[in-house]
Amino acid sequence: MSQEELLRKRRTFGIISHPDAGKTTLTEKLLLFGGAIQSAGAVKSNKVRKSATSDFMEIEKQRGISVATSVMGFEYNGYKVNILDTPGHKDFAEDTYRTLTAVDSVILVVDCVKGVEEQTRKLMEVCRMRNTPVIVFINKLDREGQDPYDLLEEIEKELNIHTRPMTWPIGVGSTFQGVYNLYDKTLQLFSPNRSKISSDIVAIKELNDGSLDTNIGEKPANKLREDVELIEGVYEPFNEELYLEGYLAPVFFGSAINNFGVQELLDTFVKIAPEPRPRVTEEREILPTEKNFSGFIFKIHANLDPNHRDRIAFCRIVSGKFERNKFYQHTRLDKKLRFSSPTSFMANEKSIVDEAFPGDVVGLYDTGNFKIGDTLTEGEMIHFKGIPSFSPEIFKELVNKDPMKTKQLEKGIQQLTDEGVAQLFTQQPGNIKIIGTVGELQFEVIQFRLLAEYGASCAFRPLGYEKACWFTSDNKAALDKFYTIKRHNIAEDKEGRPVFLADSMWALKMTQDNYPDIQFHFTSEFKTEQSDIRNANAWK
Ligand code: G4P
Repeated sequence: MSQEELLRKRRTFGIISHPDAGKTTLTEKLLLFGGAIQSAGAVKSNKVRKSATSDFMEIEKQRGISVATSVMGFEYNGYKVNILDTPGHKDFAEDTYRTLTAVDSVILVVDCVKGVEEQTRKLMEVCRMRNTPVIVFINKLDREGQDPYDLLEEIEKELNIHTRPMTWPIGVGSTFQGVYNLYDKTLQLFSPNRSKISSDIVAIKELNDGSLDTNIGEKPANKLREDVELIEGVYEPFNEELYLEGYLAPVFFGSAINNFGVQELLDTFVKIAPEPRPRVTEEREILPTEKNFSGFIFKIHANLDPNHRDRIAFCRIVSGKFERNKFYQHTRLDKKLRFSSPTSFMANEKSIVDEAFPGDVVGLYDTGNFKIGDTLTEGEMIHFKGIPSFSPEIFKELVNKDPMKTKQLEKGIQQLTDEGVAQLFTQQPGNIKIIGTVGELQFEVIQFRLLAEYGASCAFRPLGYEKACWFTSDNKAALDKFYTIKRHNIAEDKEGRPVFLADSMWALKMTQDNYPDIQFHFTSEFKTEQSDIRNANAWK
């Protein structure tokens, strides 16, 4: 198969949702339809339950599960589909954002009872930053949910994306009878708890003919006719180009737990979702069709066995062909590395891969060479962009509780922050180490892992900051003045870039007003001011 043909048949995506909307259930159903698993329950829930804040075994179990389900690949209708798992717990939001840098599109699951929720908003903001194409799956139609028109309006307004229904529900909750496919002009009748069978699908050539009334009853049939007329009047026909540009989200209705609407989703997904896309580096754009291999690390997992320090770095292949046992260039370290057992993971099964192609993800065993965002190539000195750190929201000073283990603590915190567990800032004078995270759970993970894996004990002293922003300025005098006056609120990130630690959003706003020559950035990758503004809004 030619490289073009291979690419045309690859789909790499993520499923995102607010916790409990049905991401795990939908993932599992897609794997069932794809034949990758044989029975429901094979994919463990990747949720860290709320009680996990004090249950480290749960955290460890979670780490095991999330390694196993990091990438789930299967073949469907001649397509190679890769689902990249994203943690559901909000304290791991940054992991999710990073994983979204490695996908080409997403399926967003919305609970029809709850509508758009907090995490839905934040995740979509990240998708909008890179114009990731989005398909919306409105789930749990078997429950008494909101009116579908209201849901679509809420999605459009709150998520800042246009929508186009592809199917339309008939009734909801106790009156839910199925969905009408607006494109195939078929009716899919709902029967709970079973896979679709052919008699559940009824072709309705003409909405006005009586077969609709026979199937769903006169009143619902009339309501559907009105709805379809309204939809066709209000919405433009589905425009694939606008979907691929990330402006228009096709919307499906269904019930994942009941296998309902899942196959339609999958069939349309493989047809319209983008093939592996180009990626930008600091130097140039890399096309997936290029002959030479390139890829980047978007996720690092520590070994589950504390006696072994090695880790698994997940590499998304961007171009060319990745081959086992070949030497590749680690461009940040300017070092050649060879991987003898690159691995793919699938529902608790690991296998060694000999070769992999753009869109695929391989797990590489690592003894400490990798950081999130690193680039591998066949020699070209390029550096992939677009895997920023986001502004954390909780800050604590790292306190060493065992001076005999200072070295271990130092090494441990460096490695854990390379893995992306949290961000590390250093403040002078005194070399104060400040850990910044988006959730409380990370502090417990750090404390636990420092002790278990590095033998170092630490404590955390809460700090009153609410926001960290990277800052830059072309005006040296303004920058010097800012450094002098705000020195108590300034630290450095791991790359030595200056960061302003704001005591509150209000204080940040005041500082921005008082120092107009300083630019404040809400991610470590200073993109356009527009995306910074959107980011700021997303994090409020
Ligand atoms: P998440 O990964 O997005 O957090 O959600 P998950 O799939 O775990 O689903 C959350 C809950 O919603 C689960 O129930 C799941 O069974 C249920 N669910 C998923 N899809 C549907 C649906 O179409 N209809 C209805 N009525 N429920 C659905 P749970 O009680 O929290 O867990 P479990 O004990 O069933 O596993």
